Amino acid sequence: MQIDGKDIVLDAFKEVYKTLDNVRVFFAPGRVNLIGEHTDYNGGHVFPCALTIGTYAAVRLRDDDVCRFYSKNFPDAGIIERNTNETVKDESKSFTNYPLGMVAALKEKGFEIRRGFDVAYYGNIPNSSGLSSSASIEVLTGFFLKELFGLNISNLDIALLGQKCENEFIGVNCGIMDQFIIAMGKKDNATFLDTATLEYLYVPVKLDGYKIVIACSNKKRGLKDSKYNERRQECDTALADIKTVKSINTLGELTEEEFESLKSNIIDETCRKRAKHAVYENQRTIKAVTKLQEGDIEGFGQLMNESHDSLRDDYEVTGIELDTLVNAARKCQGVIGSRMTGAGFGGCTVSIVLDDCIDSFIDYVGKEYKEITQLDADFYVVEIGDGPLEI
Ligand code: GLA
Repeated sequence: MQIDGKDIVLDAFKEVYKTLDNVRVFFAPGRVNLIGEHTDYNGGHVFPCALTIGTYAAVRLRDDDVCRFYSKNFPDAGIIERNTNETVKDESKSFTNYPLGMVAALKEKGFEIRRGFDVAYYGNIPNSSGLSSSASIEVLTGFFLKELFGLNISNLDIALLGQKCENEFIGVNCGIMDQFIIAMGKKDNATFLDTATLEYLYVPVKLDGYKIVIACSNKKRGLKDSKYNERRQECDTALADIKTVKSINTLGELTEEEFESLKSNIIDETCRKRAKHAVYENQRTIKAVTKLQEGDIEGFGQLMNESHDSLRDDYEVTGIELDTLVNAARKCQGVIGSRMTGAGFGGCTVSIVLDDCIDSFIDYVGKEYKEITQLDADFYVVEIGDGPLEI
C-alpha cells in the first residue's frame, strides 16, 4: 500500500513542479484510538494505534525561503506559496497552515530552517474523518524537516511541537494523543500512554480472527468549529471546583470512588457529567489494557461499548450519525465492541469484527446508516502500522 502512495505523491510532485530532481518521499500514519477518549487533556490514559494509511510527502529543498505547497487531496487549491518567516495562520491558505505551523514551531524552539521547500502531499486517510489527518500532516512535516536539515530532535519532541502547532497556530486546544501516536506508533501494537507523565507501553494487539473495522460517517467536522474547546473548558471548571476541597492536578488522578465522593463539589450539573466521563473513561482504559493483555477480547469489547455510551450520555459528543453506526454495528453477528473514535461530533467509529462477518457487517451497517441519515458510510478494514519513515 505504501508503494502505491509513494507513486501517487511522486506523480503529483512531477505534475505540478515539473521535475523529480532531489526529491525525497516520506510517510506518516493516521491513527485510531481503541479506547480512552477525551482523557488526554485530563491527565488520563489513552490507547491508540497508528495505521498503515496516512499521509505522504514528496519534497525537495529550495535555495530561497519560499515554501510551495500542493496537495493531491485539494487539487483545486493549486500551488500555494508561503514563506518560512510567517508566524501566523492565514485562513485563506487552507491546509498549508498545518505544515507552516510546524515550521514556525520548530523555529521558535531554536531549530534553524534556513531554506524553503517545494512539497506535494497525498493522504489516503479520509479528510475530517477523525483519523487525525491534521496531526498526520503536522508530524510528517516535522519529520521531513528533521531529515532534510539533519535536526537533532526526537520523534517525541516532534509530537510535542505538533501539539503546540495545533494549540497555538491552528487554535485547537487538543491534547497530545494524536501527535504522540503518529510520531511513536509501532506496527501491530497499540500504545498505552499516560498523558500526565508521557510514560508509555507498547501492547501487542492480537485479535485472533477478529479485525479492526473503521466506519466513516462522512459527517464532516473540523475541531475548530466543533465543541471541542468547550468540552475542555467544562472539564477545567469541574477540576477547579474539586480543587477547592482536594489537592489534585488533573481529573485523571481520581478513581471512580473518589469521584463519587467528591462530585457534589462540582456546582454545574453539565460540568459534573463531563468530569464523570473523564474519570470513568480513564479507569476503563486502564482496565481495557489489562483485558487485552490477558487475551480477553470480549471483555475489551465490552469496555469499548461502555466507552461509547459514556461519550453519548455524559460527554455528549456522539450525535445521530455516530450513534446510528454504533447501534447498527452492535446488532451484527461477530461484533465484540463498537464505539466512536477521536473527538466525536461526526468522524468515525471503530469496531472489532470477526473476520468471517466483515462483509455482512459492512452491508448491514451501511444500509441501516443510509436509511436513517441519508448518508453513505465508508468502511476501512485497517492494519496497525509504524510511525513516520522515509520511503
Ligand atoms: C482529538 C484530539 C485529541 C483527543 C481526542 C479525543 O482527536 O486531537 O487530543 O483529545 O480528540 O480523545
